[in-house]
Amino acid sequence: MYDSFNRKITYLRISVTDRCNLRCRYCMPEEGVKPIPHENILSFEEILEVSRFAVAHGVNKIRITGGEPMVRKGIVSLVAQLARLPGIKDLGMTTNGILLPKFAQQLADAGLKRVNISLDTVDPERFRWITRLGNVEDVFNGIEAAQKAGLTPIKLNCVIKNNHNEPDAQAVKAFADANGLQVRFIKEMNLETGQFSVVEGGDGGHCASCNRMRLTANGDLKPCLFTDLSYNVRELGVEKAYRLAIQNKPACGSINQMNQFSNIGG
Ligand code: 5AD
Ligand code: SF4
Repeated sequence: MYDSFNRKITYLRISVTDRCNLRCRYCMPEEGVKPIPHENILSFEEILEVSRFAVAHGVNKIRITGGEPMVRKGIVSLVAQLARLPGIKDLGMTTNGILLPKFAQQLADAGLKRVNISLDTVDPERFRWITRLGNVEDVFNGIEAAQKAGLTPIKLNCVIKNNHNEPDAQAVKAFADANGLQVRFIKEMNLETGQFSVVEGGDGGHCASCNRMRLTANGDLKPCLFTDLSYNVRELGVEKAYRLAIQNKPACGSINQMNQFSNIGG
């Protein structure tokens, strides 16, 4: 399907949960964000219904995000069902990597193609500080598990304050080079102002060729990360919500009011 600026929508990002096993400082406050009530979270059947419609109308690439996607119960079975949709060429997941030692092989067997893993520092103490809960060794083990399972090419998402010459960013780059991984530097967004910035080495932020649509864990279809527009698939029905989201996808986003990343998955 084409939007009103003749961009073909081929890429659907699906947030399967707003929950996370970490509490990264730039993403959420220490006590966590108010969780979406369980009854408002889309079931797998509903996620599949949206995905089926999207794939039937031109989407060929799906990325599963969170929160942390692997904390959603049954994630392997969801991946298996998404992988079976005819027309899916690329199926990826964005994760903090903590649970990959447990899930990498199962996910690969289910049809997941690759993972993007968040890693902002390789220093254990800095990692614990940034994530408030995490052990960087778990991520290293997760990366290894993903490599073994063939979830490649692996990209590391590294959030930076200002630029990629910061010590943490440089160390992550060195780690990536030593392990055959790609790095993308993501400038920290201020969640109050929603300051816009382009992912270095990523393919977002280029409005004129933006091919994305987002589905949040509670069923909002969002045509642009940088506006408040959203169309709920439960309220409107899948077809109407999807068509409205595409028709109203803005030429270029400016600012948004979102105050958390955990529900939309970056
Ligand atoms: N600014 C930039 N990136 C963020 N992420 C989460 N919160 C922010 C923020 N405030 C990133 C994570 C992860 C992806 C899902 O979103 O680091 O890589
Ligand atoms: Fe969890 Fe990712 Fe947010 Fe960190 S940035 S708290 S890993 S959702």
